Amino acid sequence: MQLPKANALNLIAVALLYLAGSDKWIVSGSLPCALRQYPTGSVCVCNVTYCDTLEFEEPTKAGKFVLVSSGRDGVRFALSEGSFIDASNEKFLPEVLRIPKQRYTRSTRSVTVQLDRRKVFQTVIGFGGAFTGAVSYNLGRLKPDLRYSLYRSYYSASVGIGYNLMRIPIGGCDFDLKPWAYNELPVNDAMLTNFTKLDDRDLMKIAQIRELMDVANNRKIKFMGAAWSPPKWMKSNNDWTGSSRLKAEYYQTWADYHIKYLKLVKEAGLNYWAISTGNEPMNAVIGFLFIRFMSLGWTAPSQGKWVGENLGPTLRNSAFRDVKLFAGDDQRYTFPWWFSQMNQGHPNATEYLDGLAVHWYWDSVTPPGLLDQAARLYPDKLVFNTEASLGDKPFQTHGPILGSWDRAESYITYILQDLQHNVHGWIDWNLMLNEIGGPNYANNFVESAVIANTTTGEEFYKQPIFYGLGHFSKFIIEGSTRFETTSSDSGVIVVGFVRPDRKTTLILYNKKTSSCEVTIKDPERGTAQLHLPPKSVHSILYA
Ligand SMILES: *[C@@H]1O[C@H](CO)[C@@H](O)[C@H](O)[C@H]1NC(C)=O
Ligand SMILES: *[C@@H]1O[C@H](CO)[C@@H](O)[C@H](O)[C@H]1NC(C)=O
Ligand SMILES: *[C@@H]1O[C@H](CO)[C@@H](O)[C@H](O)[C@H]1NC(C)=O
Ligand SMILES: *[C@@H]1O[C@H](CO)[C@@H](O)[C@H](O)[C@H]1NC(C)=O
Repeated sequence: MQLPKANALNLIAVALLYLAGSDKWIVSGSLPCALRQYPTGSVCVCNVTYCDTLEFEEPTKAGKFVLVSSGRDGVRFALSEGSFIDASNEKFLPEVLRIPKQRYTRSTRSVTVQLDRRKVFQTVIGFGGAFTGAVSYNLGRLKPDLRYSLYRSYYSASVGIGYNLMRIPIGGCDFDLKPWAYNELPVNDAMLTNFTKLDDRDLMKIAQIRELMDVANNRKIKFMGAAWSPPKWMKSNNDWTGSSRLKAEYYQTWADYHIKYLKLVKEAGLNYWAISTGNEPMNAVIGFLFIRFMSLGWTAPSQGKWVGENLGPTLRNSAFRDVKLFAGDDQRYTFPWWFSQMNQGHPNATEYLDGLAVHWYWDSVTPPGLLDQAARLYPDKLVFNTEASLGDKPFQTHGPILGSWDRAESYITYILQDLQHNVHGWIDWNLMLNEIGGPNYANNFVESAVIANTTTGEEFYKQPIFYGLGHFSKFIIEGSTRFETTSSDSGVIVVGFVRPDRKTTLILYNKKTSSCEVTIKDPERGTAQLHLPPKSVHSILYA
């Protein structure tokens, strides 16, 4: 990767936010954001020859830290460095802040963040996004070099934000050009005689994903499959949408369908890490009143019966016995009752599960304590957020708002909340959508962290959400264990992790419209002082 020349944009942005312009800020290391202003906010533009990166040398000397900052005022992944000092050495404060003393005004809002490494919580698996038909279609519209930049931006551990998870629909979902499934014909074909090869849409997706693994140099992506709907003939209403259940005579067929899929994708080069029992089963139980895309309805006991009698034993007796099984894959309000009710359908249903999957959409009105209850009831199971996207509600702008920092803050708020409530993995929805937040055959357009320019195929736009996600995914690497952090100010939210490389990372979010001075008190490292601008997010990594 070539190193950037002095970049005026980033220097100006840093100067604006930190009143600094000091040469003590490290602005090299990464290729900086090419910021572009739209009436609704600022995005970072990637084109066929340029795309910003997140690269830095990790600190190795005890107490040295790297700090990465983004904020409402246009800073994206600004890099700085410093060191923990003895609490009594207040005179080093300006140096640690990397701001010349005469130009720095201390905020009167002081915040103390206390670390307690003895109190530990979940160990995180990682972060990722979804590779839907829409993502595949949009990628196909981009010039190859730009496509490679997208791959690296998300999945490269060295220059990107280090994603390691990817959710892939099994068959179609609403983010496709039309609904589809395997073996739509012949109908009533319990033996799935026509499910013998991958659909062209999946062949395209897999070719792109393999290209992504090469270009991003990432061989460790954990793939997670989820079906939205079986072919219509397996369903009680013989339709893609509307109120439906799986016909009892096809319970085993629907389990076999999953194994056939795992086998064909493996032959094509993708080894799945996990599957779920299916996307949002409640959509076709109550949600059909307003949801217009392909869904299969389950009640919890009927899903439990299917898992206990069909999917569970079939998976565990197959060549894919090590593939993890997640259930739920629906909104937070299904936690934790869904899983106990699954066991009413079959006493051993939840024994087959490795994980519980939850979607973000109603998090603002459902308490995160429900996640804690699930974690207490099922302490050996992973809890993953498997979907989130903004602009889904009737009162919101459907589709992208270019440059919306508010939307990044919404992501930051709920990822922090999930991490504070036992979530082990966090998967965003579509990796990249077009200018209107699609394509989506049901016109269910939403926001995405990256928006493609499909007119030219020569630019894409990294939304503030992308940076919000990266503040977590780049730092909380697989195997990082959360420990207790307390903040003296409810406007500064913090999570802390010890990583498998023994480094410590903290993510700090100042949600208030005033800046503040944060004192981090780490019993093992001493004290560090940070100045947090209004509405900003920071990741600190230290040895
Ligand atoms: C690509 O972006 C870089 C950085 O913003 C810019 O200097 C260059 O002119 C752009 N190239 C094209 C073809 O727009
Ligand atoms: C098998 O599926 C394909 C579509 O994938 C369809 O064109 C063909 O007619 C099906 N074969 C039978 C025997 O139904
Ligand atoms: C549930 O699992 C136990 C062993 O874990 C087994 O003895 C029992 O037969 C199973 N119950 C059913 C209904 O399969
Ligand atoms: C996409 O590129 C075209 C051509 O440069 C431009 O007119 C259009 O405004 C771009 N779209 C966005 C969302 O910037």
